[in-house]
Amino acid sequence: MTLPYIDLLLKQIARGHPELERSFGRHIHWGYWPDPAAADPTSAADYGQAAEGLSLELIALADIRPGMRVLDAGCGFGGTMACLDEQVGGLDLVGLNIDPRQLARGASLAHPGPGGRMTFVAADACTLPFADASFDRVMAVECIFHFPSRAAFLAEVRRVLRPGGVLVLSDFVPAPAWVPVTRLARSPWFDRVNLFGSCDVTCSAAGYRRLAAAAGLPVTVLRDITRHTLPTYAFLGQMLKASGRRGVAERWGKAGLAMLDFVGRTGLLRYSLLRFERA
Ligand SMILES: C[S@@+](CC[C@H](N)C(=O)[O-])C[C@H]1O[C@@H](n2cnc3c(N)ncnc32)[C@H](O)[C@@H]1O
Repeated sequence: MTLPYIDLLLKQIARGHPELERSFGRHIHWGYWPDPAAADPTSAADYGQAAEGLSLELIALADIRPGMRVLDAGCGFGGTMACLDEQVGGLDLVGLNIDPRQLARGASLAHPGPGGRMTFVAADACTLPFADASFDRVMAVECIFHFPSRAAFLAEVRRVLRPGGVLVLSDFVPAPAWVPVTRLARSPWFDRVNLFGSCDVTCSAAGYRRLAAAAGLPVTVLRDITRHTLPTYAFLGQMLKASGRRGVAERWGKAGLAMLDFVGRTGLLRYSLLRFERA
């Protein structure tokens, strides 16, 4: 399965696109601005720093220490792994992705520091090719909504985590009143016309707590950080304008971004960080 936005990103990067390299060349996720009012939507460097900021928030939540073995599921270009190697160091890092093209770029960018190790594995996050109890931490940055099943992923993470192990992830979590609307958006037709491909954002906070308890991996932190991610939409709007797209593509793009901004601001869809702990 390939995702349209990833195809587009890889194509543009291969053609040579310095702005895209700076903004999405290392991380393929939303930005985190500690002070959203200070964001500069015209600056790719500002966006790249905010994308790094999101990885740092999740790394802090995961409480990762030197010597640990860490799995980054849905690792993209390995940006969170690189950030972990630079910030913590001395880690055995494994990046997993369903798309070998992203892993090849991740491997070419990976330069682990002294005592650090990085390996890249092509597989589906819902069938992890690893032994039971073989990781201290698992991360899944802004990707679980693409996985075939949250329940299957959580069960696999529970299996590969050592006792006391931790999973952290980020996801778009709908308010209870918005869940029926997110279910309406689950259709093969919408998956085909939508730049983001197949996305399941139907899991509410209560849904997460239920799934996690059933998997034996209870939720211990659920933090709504939407406010800190909102400048992402203004930046993507600038990128759309600069791309020269006109007509239907531009109108769809603008409408999609305005809708995401609206559901974020109104609390209908909450960009959230979650931590789960294996007893
Ligand atoms: C928004 S990107 C996030 C990438 C990376 N975590 C980051 O933050 O830079 C979503 C990622 O999920 C990956 N993905 C989608 N379905 C997957 C699956 N079933 N198993 C593993 N990775 C998957 C995609 O290939 C893509 O790299």
